[in-house]
Amino acid sequence: SGSGHPDIDEVLVSSSEIAAKIAELAARVDADYAGREILLVGVLKGAVMVMADLSRALHVPLTMEFMAVSSYGSSTSSSGVVRILKDLDRSIEGRDVLVVEDIIDSGLTLSWLLKNLRSRGPASLEVLALFRKPEAITVDVDVRYVGFDIPSAFVVGYGLDYSEYYRTLPFVGTLTPAAIERGAPS
Ligand code: PRP
Ligand code: MN
Ligand code: MG
Repeated sequence: SGSGHPDIDEVLVSSSEIAAKIAELAARVDADYAGREILLVGVLKGAVMVMADLSRALHVPLTMEFMAVSSYGSSTSSSGVVRILKDLDRSIEGRDVLVVEDIIDSGLTLSWLLKNLRSRGPASLEVLALFRKPEAITVDVDVRYVGFDIPSAFVVGYGLDYSEYYRTLPFVGTLTPAAIERGAPS
């Protein structure tokens, strides 16, 4: 596989591809928000890597907030039931909010989150997601910035987890059947 990690079957997006894409997305965001201030809302925990890299690549004034939401179940697919584990610390009323996500899979988390945030009266509300799976298209979520459209395989790395593991891998890839079976890193 060439990843150097025994649990990784195939690398789908390399760390250098991710870095280049983040730089490209940051340039677009900088241009679109010129003269304004952004409130980045990172969706814990998956978005931590994108937040860390994107925020440092941006030049417009920004502040960061985090929200922790999770779909029920810790397995390889999402259920659509979303719970707030940690809400925002402050009001987003009148703010230019950019929600930062690692991945849109079914789109259910984001669809729910956008409805929730829209009700709080932001001046604008946009989404940046580094990865998106084809199924996400079936849900009515308007995502302004998408990094990569990837196949529907279960993937880990760069924030994406399997049973909370593998988030720190610098690339995104698929797990070997043995690693999935084991449910923990080797
Ligand atoms: C993952 C991912 C997205 C969401 C996408 O989060 O980080 O937030 O699922 O799935 P969906 O489009 O089908 O709703 P998860 O709920 O696993 O929590 P985590 O970020 O803490 O891993
Ligand atoms: Mn998440
Ligand atoms: Mg997860």
